[in-house]
Amino acid sequence: MRANVKNDIIRKIVELTLRGASSADNQQPWSFHWDGVKLTVREVIQGLKLTDPGRFLNTLNLGTIAETIDIVTSMPSVHLKPEFSYSLSPANLGMQATFTKSPRSLDELAQVVEKRWCDRRKYKSESIDESVIQACHRDLYDGVNLYFSANTKELHAVDGMIWGKVFAIDRLCKKDMYEWLRWSKRDAEKTRDGMYWTTFSDSWINSRMVKLSMNPSRLVYFCTRPFTRPALRAIGILQRMFSASNGLISEGTEGVYGCVTVKKTSSEALVDAGRSIIRVWMRLNLQGYSFQPMMVLPLVFSYMRPEAGNGSGVVKGMVSAYEIDKGFDACRETFGFSKDETPVWIFRAGLPKGPKHYATLRKDVAKVLSVSPGITEK
Ligand SMILES: Cc1cc2nc3c(=O)[nH]c(=O)nc-3n(C[C@H](O)[C@H](O)[C@H](O)COP(=O)(O)O)c2cc1C
Repeated sequence: MRANVKNDIIRKIVELTLRGASSADNQQPWSFHWDGVKLTVREVIQGLKLTDPGRFLNTLNLGTIAETIDIVTSMPSVHLKPEFSYSLSPANLGMQATFTKSPRSLDELAQVVEKRWCDRRKYKSESIDESVIQACHRDLYDGVNLYFSANTKELHAVDGMIWGKVFAIDRLCKKDMYEWLRWSKRDAEKTRDGMYWTTFSDSWINSRMVKLSMNPSRLVYFCTRPFTRPALRAIGILQRMFSASNGLISEGTEGVYGCVTVKKTSSEALVDAGRSIIRVWMRLNLQGYSFQPMMVLPLVFSYMRPEAGNGSGVVKGMVSAYEIDKGFDACRETFGFSKDETPVWIFRAGLPKGPKHYATLRKDVAKVLSVSPGITEK
């Protein structure tokens, strides 16, 4: 039976979902509308417009939103069972949730919704407990597979090569991706979306170099000044000092790599992958492991392998077909999945080196959730 749900409960569901589900570059690209019966979720920000025209990342993200709503509504203070219907065309990405009152057992991942986090630092451990790996496998939806590998070297190199070639060098890709970087705390607090540069655990000097590189004319001006060479040398020395004090060049590991694959790359499969991923992510956090998505390779694979068939104008041409094939083979060898599977999510995980030191901001619920007029508290 359809439940009468109070606006306050919907507000709580949306707030926890925004916090728990995460989004690419923390864009929080969704709007929520409650009409008293349905909670409608719509994509209002297109995300990476140039590098992700088919909404690969936001379709995965929609799955993480659905699963987080599912987890949150299992809390005793909410106690609802959602049912979802999706709209998955790139022109109209979103979903609707209706709720029935149903006694259901608490999903244990509800404990970590507010604590789920990204850790982009080096990690302490190089392995994940077998029992945790098994629990992660139980979290997967049908048709979604998960692989772990501690052999990270080759994949790391390919990831770095593609990142450098496509995203760091191409001006348009860079603009597309760095739009979401916030250079000061004030900027971050003003918009409450995007990512404050400190979340990358980078040094201040590095962050300014990246910022400088965003503006070619300033960069050219800087590079042609007579003081450039000594200044760069001084910056290099300072940077090492900063990095050392941040623990960035102290020892640590990449951790273990994980890869989620699907058998067919339909949008429905991506939603199921997204649902599985957020469970695995929360599961690892629940057991004390840190987690960092590394989505450059899956994004590039999703557009550039001939099988994908819908190459992105911007990314195409930057990396050769040979390099993509090589990268794909490295990925398959690292994780050992079969030829008919496509990797849609790569991450690293491991025990953290220290406590979490920041919280990524979220937009105010009042800004993203609207309620139909006349829907008063029931
Ligand atoms: C679809 C998707 C792709 C992401 N890709 C990356 C990535 O490539 N690298 C990374 O460090 N974080 C990535 N993230 C993590 C988000 O940047 C991060 O979750 C977001 O900024 C919110 O921060 P929080 O996780 O601390 O709440 C991704 C998240 C999602 C949902």
